[in-house]
Amino acid sequence: MTALLEARGLHLAFGGVRAADGIDLDVLRGEFLAIIGPNGAGKTTFINMTTGYLRPQAGSIAYEGEAITGLNPRAIVRRGIARSFQLPQLFTEHTVEQNVALALAARDGAWSPLAPLLRMRWRDEARATLDRFGLLDLAGARADALNEGARKLADIAMAVALKPRLLLMDEPTSGVAASEKMAIVETLLRVLRDADVTAVFVEHDMDVVERFADRVAVWSQGRIVALGPPAEVLADPAVQREVIGIERHA
Ligand SMILES: Nc1ncnc2c1ncn2[C@@H]1O[C@H](COP(=O)(O)OP(=O)(O)O)[C@@H](O)[C@H]1O
Ligand SMILES: [Mg+2]
Repeated sequence: MTALLEARGLHLAFGGVRAADGIDLDVLRGEFLAIIGPNGAGKTTFINMTTGYLRPQAGSIAYEGEAITGLNPRAIVRRGIARSFQLPQLFTEHTVEQNVALALAARDGAWSPLAPLLRMRWRDEARATLDRFGLLDLAGARADALNEGARKLADIAMAVALKPRLLLMDEPTSGVAASEKMAIVETLLRVLRDADVTAVFVEHDMDVVERFADRVAVWSQGRIVALGPPAEVLADPAVQREVIGIERHA
């Protein structure tokens, strides 16, 4: 597999806190890469730097062989990189379908708040996207009426509607009931695989990592301290002590 995204020597400090302290990482074409690590390790910072929400103070990020370091979020979306947030960014007073249509309209450069809701093309495309996620039944529901699992999926559907080649998801299962978690990840990875989207996801549930990740990267204090297949990495005593141990007691 070749690299779709190449991060080299990323540094970013907030005052004395080194949120990124020399991050080197290749994201391979077609893989599902999990990021694990304790709170404050710099996982979200990595996603923010990759998607243009934060600018690294040093280092470079290349996507499809071209530098994207320092581009703004909209420019990065246009290149083919999308993200979802730990807290879903849905317009709560709008329906699920309207939310996805709004994402599509923004992608197409329409910023009028009402026009998107009226345009058939975006609505049809929104419904087609929701269908792939098994969310069509909820298309007409207000976003604030959804349970956390559906809310997370709807947020990811908005990102997927942008037709990314690479999707970065910050804790897609946080706040989701344990009984729903596996089904949600299964749905979302099936959609991503069908659409040939490479995915990076921050995850705290080691069962999810073990079952769904091709590789796992372990973050600690702004650095990647282990990287490899889940079976290998999660069996590493240092990882168990420093990462999984902490998460179990979190
Ligand atoms: N915008 C910011 N301003 C100041 N400090 C920040 C900012 N973003 C992150 N940090 C700090 O950087 C460190 C890494 O944060 P973060 O990337 O959110 O960690 P994680 O996602 O692994 O929990 C933390 O100490 C956090 O408080
Ligand atoms: Mg985070």
